Amino acid sequence: MPNELTPDSLDRARDEGLAALAEAPDLAALAVLKPAVLGDRSPLAVARKAVGALPGPERADAGKRVNALSQELTRAYDARRVALEADRDARVLVEEAVDVTVLAGRLPVGARHPLTTLQERAVDVFVAMGWELAEGPEVEHEWFNFDALNFGGDHPAREMQDTLFVAPEGSGLVMRTHTSPVQVRSLLNRELPVYVVCPGRVFRADALDATHSPVFAQLEGLCVDEGITMAHLRGTLDAFASAMFGDGLKTRLRPSYFPFTEPSAELDLQCFHCRGDAALQPCRVCSSEGWIEVGGCGMVNPAVLRACGVDPDRYTGFAFGMGLDRAVMVRHGVTDIREIYEGDLRFTLPFGLEA
Ligand code: FA5
Repeated sequence: MPNELTPDSLDRARDEGLAALAEAPDLAALAVLKPAVLGDRSPLAVARKAVGALPGPERADAGKRVNALSQELTRAYDARRVALEADRDARVLVEEAVDVTVLAGRLPVGARHPLTTLQERAVDVFVAMGWELAEGPEVEHEWFNFDALNFGGDHPAREMQDTLFVAPEGSGLVMRTHTSPVQVRSLLNRELPVYVVCPGRVFRADALDATHSPVFAQLEGLCVDEGITMAHLRGTLDAFASAMFGDGLKTRLRPSYFPFTEPSAELDLQCFHCRGDAALQPCRVCSSEGWIEVGGCGMVNPAVLRACGVDPDRYTGFAFGMGLDRAVMVRHGVTDIREIYEGDLRFTLPFGLEA
């Protein structure tokens, strides 16, 4: 009997094969091991070849033993593969687990700028009273910004230190210094009577500090109709103040001067925090004044009506203009106007939930 077929050598092939299969640590190692245990050059294959060379009677017996060895090694290989596959599947379930209950990363929700919110609210108050929204260009002709509004040719507002002129020199264009030119545009473009509210950005050659910005927002109002008096102005401003800042809040007018209104007044809003009540002072909102200065107003100067082709003997009107940034500052306790324009999300986000 050839060496390869002795019981000893078949037992050795079995023991070594079984031991190697049992020790294969993973499917990759098992795949590498397979040819060594079951492949063409394995002891099993060598034994099978030797069987073929045996004479008939011996061949049957040896063949049975080699077949038994082949079956045992194949079964052991299959069992190890099944066990290693089960290991791998269990590990993948743990290692590649997805927690479907984890909250998906959310896109940050944008926040509306408090200036936008305040502006829209203010416009809404007037629209609810039947007024219309009017808008005008930010690059404005001097005639609309100054001349039609009765500014004299030598008025200091026309100088470089106050107004941003648009190049080239003599273009006749300025960055509008207030929203009042929209009054002129509205009177020229609309049928009388006119009730318009005009929010917008305005520009001045002011140095940037805590309360001044070279770009800021104003809200203009204009009403021109028959029989309009200063009482209508007071009533409208009081209604606006109550709707915007608190029920029963009053306005105060102090004599002033604007070329486009006569008489003219500074517009003060009663402090919504202390309302002038000494018991609630010192008040940080109004510095215990009881009033907050928000803008200017007055009866439309007949010269402006005439410049716009409106008969001042038949029509009268009132106008007002207020700074919206200052209103945002007062309302939200913002102490530096720069915060409104710097675009820092940490400033804007806390206002995000305001409608
Ligand atoms: C005017 O601009 C007039 N057009 C207002 C007006 C309209 C009067 C209609 C009469 C009739 P004044 O220059 O005072 O007025 O500006 C109005 C408001 O704008 C001020 O009360 C202030 O709240 C705001 N304001 C002025 N300059 C700045 C600035 N540099 N930064 C922020 N707010 C400013």
